[in-house]
Amino acid sequence: MIILGIESSCDETAAALVTGDRQVLAHRLLGQEAAHAPFGGVVPEIAARAHVEALEPLIVAALADAGLKLADVDAIAATAGPGLIGGVMVGLVTGKALAHAAGKPLIAVNHLEGHALSPRLSDPDLEFPYLLLLVSGGHCQLLLVEGVGAYRRLATTIDDAAGEAFDKTAKLLGLGFPGGPAVERAAALGDPKAVPLPRPLKGSAEPHFSFAGLKSAVARVVGQYSPEDLAASFQAAVVDCLIDRTTKALRTSHGATALVVAGGVAANTAVRGALQALASAHGLRFVAPPLWLCTDNAAMIGWAGAERFAAGLTDPLDVAARPRWPL
Ligand code: KG4
Ligand code: ZN
Repeated sequence: MIILGIESSCDETAAALVTGDRQVLAHRLLGQEAAHAPFGGVVPEIAARAHVEALEPLIVAALADAGLKLADVDAIAATAGPGLIGGVMVGLVTGKALAHAAGKPLIAVNHLEGHALSPRLSDPDLEFPYLLLLVSGGHCQLLLVEGVGAYRRLATTIDDAAGEAFDKTAKLLGLGFPGGPAVERAAALGDPKAVPLPRPLKGSAEPHFSFAGLKSAVARVVGQYSPEDLAASFQAAVVDCLIDRTTKALRTSHGATALVVAGGVAANTAVRGALQALASAHGLRFVAPPLWLCTDNAAMIGWAGAERFAAGLTDPLDVAARPRWPL
């Protein structure tokens, strides 16, 4: 089984070819950082236009890399939301057009499902159910992944997502965009204990997240400490919150076979290290996809498509793009 995956929900345009037995035959990606950097964040209209320009050549290149033609593909999986609607529509309409022209089934993939199932692409031994910490630029959730299409949300953020907090903090510290990797680099040179910062919701009964107060606390002391110490202290506070909240969720995720992290913030070494330690303390396996599979890409969409296709789940060509789409 060969699936063409298409991703265009934020500021990465991507196409990939993935097989049902976990081979990534090709994956192509074009980031738009340079186009958005002058604005300090993703500009939806610029993103949509960039997807229009980039997507078709990326699909052609991915097929060529894999030595395949469209006719060789069994189904086409495109992100149908949630995300910036202009971009989502570019990818979904392209997927629909290719599916129609080639007479192939279409699979409309929830971007969050792409992240949620991505660890099963890199780790063939990862079985359901698993506790997933999904930490990206738009989302911060704890999910019990019980099967394909079976996601129980245990917690979410009541304000900012974790990646959003990294991006806003990077902006406050003048570290540029995208913020996560920049904060991580600066943090490596700073003292995580230098700046006293809050741990929002730490110890609270439900495992929800909150990061807006942490970002505001950084804003209040910018200039009083070095950017490196601020970055290190901020990152330590985020890690503390993620660990406290995940520990809470572990108490109710009975039967979980592993602790899994996915989404862009899973690329952060401090976050991965702390989760790894938490998993060992609970006698659980820890699974984190390789870095390229943590941030947005089309292989995870192709893989979610493969899992859905194997379960007999395809979609009609009039399926709608959805800016909001909870798992
Ligand atoms: O999953 P993703 O590529 O896109 C969304 O679906 O949101 O996640 C992007 C987010 C951004 O907020 C980015 O700053 C953050 O992931 N990120 C990181 C790191 N790399 C990316 N955050 C912290 N440390 C990193 N190394
Ligand atoms: Zn994402």
